[in-house]
Amino acid sequence: MSLNKANIVLGVTGGIAAYKAPEIVRRLIDKGASVRVVMTASACDFVKPLVFQAVSGHPVGVDLLDEAAEAAMGHIELARWADAVLVAPATANTLARMTAGAADDLLTTICLATRAPCWVAPAMNSVMWEHPATATNITTLQSRGVRVLGPGIGSQACGETGAGRLLEPDDIVSSLEQQFAAAGEERVLMDAKDACVVNAEPMLLADSHVLITAGPTREALDPVRFLTNHSSGKMGFALAEAAVDAGASVTLIAGPVRLETPGGVTRIDVVSALDMHKAVLRHAPNNDIFISVAAVADYRVAKQQAHKIKKSEGEMTLQMVRNPDILAEVAALEARPFCVGFAAETKDLDIYARGKLTKKNLDMIVGNLVGQATGGFNTDDNAVEVYWPNDGYASFASRSKRLLANDLITLLSQRYRAHQDPVN
Ligand code: PMT
Repeated sequence: MSLNKANIVLGVTGGIAAYKAPEIVRRLIDKGASVRVVMTASACDFVKPLVFQAVSGHPVGVDLLDEAAEAAMGHIELARWADAVLVAPATANTLARMTAGAADDLLTTICLATRAPCWVAPAMNSVMWEHPATATNITTLQSRGVRVLGPGIGSQACGETGAGRLLEPDDIVSSLEQQFAAAGEERVLMDAKDACVVNAEPMLLADSHVLITAGPTREALDPVRFLTNHSSGKMGFALAEAAVDAGASVTLIAGPVRLETPGGVTRIDVVSALDMHKAVLRHAPNNDIFISVAAVADYRVAKQQAHKIKKSEGEMTLQMVRNPDILAEVAALEARPFCVGFAAETKDLDIYARGKLTKKNLDMIVGNLVGQATGGFNTDDNAVEVYWPNDGYASFASRSKRLLANDLITLLSQRYRAHQDPVN
């Protein structure tokens, strides 16, 4: 689905970046969308409603209790009319009100009353953006399916430099357009559960050391045979690349895969689960975050044969012993990194993933439904469900593993910060 003929409610909230919003309206109309603008009272202090009326060609909604406006297109009608609600710029205050489920003005009421998917493009001072309260609000909104566009980084109107700039109107509209196209008409219009972030904030993991495992392990039976699984390493390598982009210093411990090392990543190749175990335990204490994406073999043969096993008549029995649970061991270290696991499951994803979260004492787990026609092992796209303690949950619909990695790094960095500073 394209933006052509789509009905978009654009919510404009009260920040200096509101001056860019008329340009967003124009870009949306250029794409063929029909746009109705709804402003908060403080947005009107920055840009006059008349400006939006002129560029959108429609009256602008401001007041929830405006009889004339309600008679023309009431707030419920507007909420139903929308194929998507885009709040741009979204101030920290509006994000907080949306998180709280407030319906104290026209915009928040529409956000609450609509079944259409909702996007927010945050814009605020960088300290406000980094505040744990805002981070928690963003995580909560994402877990409810609100999609977050940006923010960008750079110099700000308040004189600070950092994250919190409104993305450029072109970027906002093209992200919206891509997501419409990628998600498909039905999903975009009907499924507001999916969470998504584009343009992962580049410096979210500045000064952090991140250890990632990726790929399968190989458990040798003899010098010529081994047991392994379908992991290609793509998900782990994508996360390594996204973590570097987010400013982290990344060590990637990879099982046998055929992938190029992403730029800026320190790679250590291993073969078996025992090799991976040794390498991870050596590096874990020097890292802030451990992301265990590897599909580690749970068993190895009790006795690896020195020479090729010769076939004989009848069946062959292999005696297997358990491999160490690398992730659980790291999570049990006294000075442990923030631990993120993955759970590849073929059914009951939430039950098994939440079970592993608790059993392995993790800070977050990414549940990955595998064995389906799409997603999971050795694919370019993936869809995951993320869980963290106290019933934390976010859902990421299918997208490229690289884009998904951005989204996961954004969520992970928010959880990591909340974990470091639990009081806030
Ligand atoms: O590599 P790709 O082709 O891109 O595919 C990606 C993926 C499907 C491999 C990935 O998204 C994924 O789901 N990885 C986890 C696979 C897995 O083995 O899950 P598990 O449920 O068996 O293990 C749970 C967690 O414990 C994982 O974080 C795993 O790395 C870790 N583990 C498991 C066993 C073991 N002995 N030691 C471990 O550390």
